[in-house]
Amino acid sequence: MKDWFSSRAKRVQISGIRKMFEMAGPESINLGLGELDFQPSDLAMDSLAKAVREGYNHYGPTKGLPELRKILAQRLSRYRPDVEIDNIIITAGGTQGLLVSAMTLFDHGDEVLVPDPGFVIYQPHVIMCGATPIRYSLRFESEFQPNPDEIEELITPRTKAIVLNSPNNPTSGILDAETIKAIRDLAMDNELAIISDEVYDEIIFEGEHLSMLNADYDNVVYINSFSKTFALTGWRLGYLAASKYMVNQLAKIQYYNIACPPTPLQKAIYDVMSAPTNKIQERVDILRKRRDAIVKRVNDIPGFNCLKPKGAFYVFPTFDHSISSEDFAMELVKAGVICAPGSAFGKGGEGHLRFSFANSLEMIEKGMDIVEKVAGSIPRRK
Ligand SMILES: Cc1ncc(COP(=O)(O)O)c(C=O)c1O
Repeated sequence: MKDWFSSRAKRVQISGIRKMFEMAGPESINLGLGELDFQPSDLAMDSLAKAVREGYNHYGPTKGLPELRKILAQRLSRYRPDVEIDNIIITAGGTQGLLVSAMTLFDHGDEVLVPDPGFVIYQPHVIMCGATPIRYSLRFESEFQPNPDEIEELITPRTKAIVLNSPNNPTSGILDAETIKAIRDLAMDNELAIISDEVYDEIIFEGEHLSMLNADYDNVVYINSFSKTFALTGWRLGYLAASKYMVNQLAKIQYYNIACPPTPLQKAIYDVMSAPTNKIQERVDILRKRRDAIVKRVNDIPGFNCLKPKGAFYVFPTFDHSISSEDFAMELVKAGVICAPGSAFGKGGEGHLRFSFANSLEMIEKGMDIVEKVAGSIPRRK
């Protein structure tokens, strides 16, 4: 039989989170969600309908609608005052922003440092570009801060870039100022690009978000998305920001990727972003209550240990039961709760489960009743 498939297709596997969803029954309580349970605002929905009626249905510029890019440049000036419209490209979600960055920067023979545990698409993107992912660890004991000394040891003459993610999926850790400075210095000394995934930057419960854009380093590709901030995951729209010399190359690859981002959706998001108020703070307040509830419930389960997230909407507790995270998650799915096994995010995620609190308080409480019961039936390590 003919070998149809590229080495690229053969080298990447289906995500371990998908497996859980495929096994789940229709009545399951979903604590595996990577998206908010809210609907978009009325303004977002009305603006989209209006944009379509007004004729925003054709191809647009590859880098995206100028009016939206302008408003995004203004937003990003809070991190870096010299960000301008020419630094911005609108993408088809953070996912596609990450892919176009990978395709523009990574090559055969390159090594790319990725977090472990880390969001499930970083490693496949590196592999799809023929490069090699090299994992750096995020540890519970250090509140999931990367260790710059470990990163330094992993750098070789082949290292091309480092992928950072703050606030982080799955750990909900956020980068502190000292770590940002140390990693930026390493990148500068070794001429590495930094891909900084900041799609949860508006979902912060304590303190303020520290962006890599603010790190005074020009070789950063900043990735963001409208998915999490505005509960618009299905709209598939995001954006990236980078130095102009990078944007020119990124835009070239972007044209061959998607030609242009979806026109009516960009117009609707522009309307949402130009409105005097949005629902972000209201939603963060709701999420904070859910976070407090889930952290308490998880820490009340014997054998579980859970940090209080400062951002994003996941808890990533350790457990000391004699079972792999995948088998544990399977047991939970059978009992009616969907969550993600830590191992789905890399070897470093073993011994953890990821529960999302992007679900109602009622569902969190019900789900945790089940988790507590299932955990009680699994023997613990000594
Ligand atoms: C850390 C991180 N980056 C990027 C994305 C991609 O989001 P989207 O493609 O919906 O913008 C996600 C989605 O879960 C994520 O968790």
